[in-house]
Amino acid sequence: MRVFISRPVPQGWLHLLHGKVDYEIFPEDRLLSKEELKRHLSEVDGAIVILADKIDKEVMDAAPNLRVISNYAVGYDNIDIEEATRRKIMVTNTPDVLTNATAELALALLFAVARRVVEGDRFTREGRFEGWSPVLLLGTEIKGKTVGVIGAGRIGREFAKKAHALGMKVIYYSRTRKEELDKIGAEFVSLEELLRRSDFISIHLPLTPETHHLIGKKEIEMMKPDAILINTGRGAVIDEMALADALKRKRIKGAGLDVYEFEPGITRILLELENVVLTPHIGSATEETRKRMMEVACENLLCALEGKTPPNLVNPEVLS
Ligand code: NAP
Ligand code: GLV
Ligand code: GLV
Repeated sequence: MRVFISRPVPQGWLHLLHGKVDYEIFPEDRLLSKEELKRHLSEVDGAIVILADKIDKEVMDAAPNLRVISNYAVGYDNIDIEEATRRKIMVTNTPDVLTNATAELALALLFAVARRVVEGDRFTREGRFEGWSPVLLLGTEIKGKTVGVIGAGRIGREFAKKAHALGMKVIYYSRTRKEELDKIGAEFVSLEELLRRSDFISIHLPLTPETHHLIGKKEIEMMKPDAILINTGRGAVIDEMALADALKRKRIKGAGLDVYEFEPGITRILLELENVVLTPHIGSATEETRKRMMEVACENLLCALEGKTPPNLVNPEVLS
């Protein structure tokens, strides 16, 4: 069996593959062009790809032997699932193992924006700190505030529980009510009510046709003037231009973003604003989580190649 892995990773993360499959690792830590992707997938039975690799019909056409696409991510909006299913290609992802890391990053962004941590760091490094002042870099406190969680999946619920533990009032919007959140007294509300009531809003949605631009100009206009918006889901859930414009006009207080509509591109205005904290899609980027994710990706891949049902099969329709 031949396998392609689209990014270099530490050898120790790939121990499950040793002696089981013949694998090739792309040697450079950069995005492959479509042509490169097609060429490297042309003779393999399986692939481990990253969320920036677009696996569409054209790429699948170039990979006639492909039986499994193991995505090294929980989100799989980079893969044409319908097309894969039609070709009986299994698609898998890496849920659960990155839930805590991503919820922690959302909280880190929330704290950073609310307490102006990054702005304070810039200020200090620039040599502008001339001593304590009663009014220097005043932020806003988290305890006692209302946080609105959009998308109460694995990460959204973990974030909600952490926010509750910090003394925040949690309200949430999702497709279905979650018993797990009833237990912490979280209220299941409509999107509009969430936008109107929240001091902080944290997005944990996948990108789908339904969630694309779920947060646009109209939704931002419903937010409180001092609202802070956090996004660790997918960039295109927000109309990034509308958000940048609202932040520039100070229509809302701030934002903490880990994901962008046109990654790795970022709407220029955002780069110039003080009330925004930007991280480069590092939600799951901890040593322990990235290693576990690769083990899960390898396990999914091996199961599929051995003709078993992988633990994290995204398109079970392939089995029918
Ligand atoms: P998940 O368990 O599938 O949670 C997603 C939740 O979104 C689902 O529970 C679902 O709610 C809700 N949802 C989906 N479509 C919706 C819609 N149209 N309206 C309202 N709610 C909707 O996935 P997860 O493991 O928590 O991951 C969530 C996303 O986070 C991933 O898809 C990925 O894009 C992103 N992510 C980013 C990073 C990062 O590095 N920044 C890391 C990991 C994940 P119901 O249960 O109510 O149907
Ligand atoms: C990261 O964004 C993921 O979906 O795992
Ligand atoms: C601040 O440093 C204080 O002592 O109040």
